[in-house]
Amino acid sequence: MALHKGADDDRRLSIGPFAATSDPLGSMELAPPLHRLGEGPVPAETAYQLIHDELMLDGNARLNLATFVTTSMETQATRLMTECLDKNMIDKDEYPQTAELERRCVAILADLWHAPDPDTAIGCSTTGSSEACMLAGMALKRRWMRRNPERYAAGARPNLVMGVNVQVCWEKFCTFWEVEARTAPMEGERFHLDAERAVALCDEDTIGVVGILGSTFDGSYEPIAEICAALDAFQERTGIDVPVHVDGASGGMVAPFLDPELAWDFRLPRVASINTSGHKYGLVYPGVGWALWRDRAALPEELVFRVNYLGGEMPTFALNFSRPGAEVIAQYYVLLRLGRAGFRAVQGACREVATYLAGEIGKLDCFRLLTDGDQLPVFAFTTDGDVPFDVFDVSRRLRERGWQVPAYKFPANREDLAVLRVVCRNGFSRDLADLLLNDLHRLLPELRRQPVPLKEFGVPARSAFHH
Ligand SMILES: Cc1ncc(COP(=O)(O)O)c(C=O)c1O
Repeated sequence: MALHKGADDDRRLSIGPFAATSDPLGSMELAPPLHRLGEGPVPAETAYQLIHDELMLDGNARLNLATFVTTSMETQATRLMTECLDKNMIDKDEYPQTAELERRCVAILADLWHAPDPDTAIGCSTTGSSEACMLAGMALKRRWMRRNPERYAAGARPNLVMGVNVQVCWEKFCTFWEVEARTAPMEGERFHLDAERAVALCDEDTIGVVGILGSTFDGSYEPIAEICAALDAFQERTGIDVPVHVDGASGGMVAPFLDPELAWDFRLPRVASINTSGHKYGLVYPGVGWALWRDRAALPEELVFRVNYLGGEMPTFALNFSRPGAEVIAQYYVLLRLGRAGFRAVQGACREVATYLAGEIGKLDCFRLLTDGDQLPVFAFTTDGDVPFDVFDVSRRLRERGWQVPAYKFPANREDLAVLRVVCRNGFSRDLADLLLNDLHRLLPELRRQPVPLKEFGVPARSAFHH
């Protein structure tokens, strides 16, 4: 979460004389302070209306093409979630059926991701992929410590190998858990980790390699099978056995349905653990992720805590204690509701919209596609040729129409490259894609009439978007 400061600010909210249930004579005097707790209560309906009105300034989630996170669910799912808002995921004893639905979700994912033995695969729900990645990283680090007690005691610093394109959660993991982040930079037209680079960074202090399915920067899948094969050869050469974690935040719920032949999961013996965000292509509103380990050996027992469950004990692995149960229930709803064929249809429609929109944008002579939406339903493009505008100008102008299409610079060694990225999610229909295209066509002539990119007038070429 953003870190916020206190405020030396006495501003107050104003309540109109004829708003909600306010008393036309008395309520304007209430004027509750913004940054201090008010002296007295505000009527419920008035409090609701004040907050509701203020939130109108938030963007329209459906036009947000920056986020991977679900922005529309069926009313039945919303109803279930509302019914379960009071359920705490950790109270397994009080809510055994919620615990059972979580267990079924883990079993379904273990099967979907080809765990060799469903009986020994183990997993849990989390608040999202970030927490799942922390847990998976901790398991990797603990396994390395166990394998290298002398090196660890002698001060060896564990490292984690990944592409520079990893999501910020992996930088967090390395900072929080004191692991060296070994990142392979981008080079030329290679925008993610490849097998050669991964192996070159490994040594006896490597706790694991993170492979991403797919990259937050451009939606491309990293070559997980090739990375695993190269690590097999590395082990033969050096005796060093480096496990792989697959960050399937988005792809974990796309590839099984659209690319069933692609071996990226537990079919590869080197893959020790996988995470996904239930709230991305798992099609649930924000607040749920999943972490799975191929077997018990991949998750050191000492990291597991026990909570009460129907008079017995249930193993748990989590950073939080209390956590909402509604999202987990909603995840089970989506899995039950769609089945394999339903997921294939929904994710397939997203990919169709992505490849269509990318194709149309690619036809414009002022843009160049970096990816075309045929892996994750996500694509990145940049400006091409001698045009007097940059990606930040395009993003700013699209925003005037409500579209949130993020523009950002690539990391090392392609800081010279800035792109726009479009995430096609369930609910972003072909019709909406056409409306976006219309808007793009309409504003391009204006952009072409600019003398130079606006950053040259001091308008910040700033990304409002964080990976
Ligand atoms: C590849 C990848 N990993 C991890 C995350 C973090 O996921 P979450 O937002 O569920 O914490 C993201 C989010 O975009 C991502 O794309």
